[in-house]
Amino acid sequence: MESGEHPNSIRTYKLRGARITPAQEGAIERLGERFLLPLSNDPIEVREIFPNAKRRVLEIGSGMGEATAQMAEAEPDTSIIAIEVHKPGVGSLLWRIEKMGLQNIRIVHGDVKEILESKFVSESFDEIRIYFPDPWQKLRHHKRRLLQGDFIPLLATKLVSKGLLHIATDWQPYAKWIEAEFADASQFVGGVVQRPSNRPLTRFEEQGLTKEHQVTDFFYYKH
Ligand SMILES: C[S@@+](CC[C@H](N)C(=O)[O-])C[C@H]1O[C@@H](n2cnc3c(N)ncnc32)[C@H](O)[C@@H]1O
Repeated sequence: MESGEHPNSIRTYKLRGARITPAQEGAIERLGERFLLPLSNDPIEVREIFPNAKRRVLEIGSGMGEATAQMAEAEPDTSIIAIEVHKPGVGSLLWRIEKMGLQNIRIVHGDVKEILESKFVSESFDEIRIYFPDPWQKLRHHKRRLLQGDFIPLLATKLVSKGLLHIATDWQPYAKWIEAEFADASQFVGGVVQRPSNRPLTRFEEQGLTKEHQVTDFFYYKH
């Protein structure tokens, strides 16, 4: 454990500088009030935020928001809540929201491990998407991998019955790890699927991948 870290909340993200561009900062100032969900004590009622959505999706670790914005544009009947801990990523997604005129996204700026349990009522989502979670390649960092332990049953509680958890990783050892974790998870059934067409093609996928960096998609359905 690294200094100052609480044993129950092992950090799953990389510490990066707080460098933020003026465009990202400006987007937060202009749009934060409308699109950022507050981290107040009350749980967020996703059905109240998006009463007319045909599908309510949670995206965990939306990064710079490239895929999030593309999905929101391509799926106008779907509403997406994106959780991201990195402030420049939040600013970048807000900038895309403005540029593309999107209405069907809200963002929570924070650590999913600290907020998921209390901030959303049970069965809030039809689908949860986790695309390219940090792979934490070194053995001593495996404890930081998001997809493990109690976090898996917690994801299940936030999905409706038969809800879908879609995971993609480009790190083959993490893909094997995910299969092993979910083999032990009685809340889910599923496994590897062909790349679904609704997952936007990211730049590094387009650029071609090495053997260890082949992308694996998983669909797990809540029992
Ligand atoms: C490798 S990036 C992938 C980003 C994006 N999904 C994509 O495909 O481009 C992983 C992202 O997950 C975020 N992340 C990791 N742990 C997180 C946590 N506990 N809560 C919220 N975001 C987290 C990181 O900040 C980072 O932006």
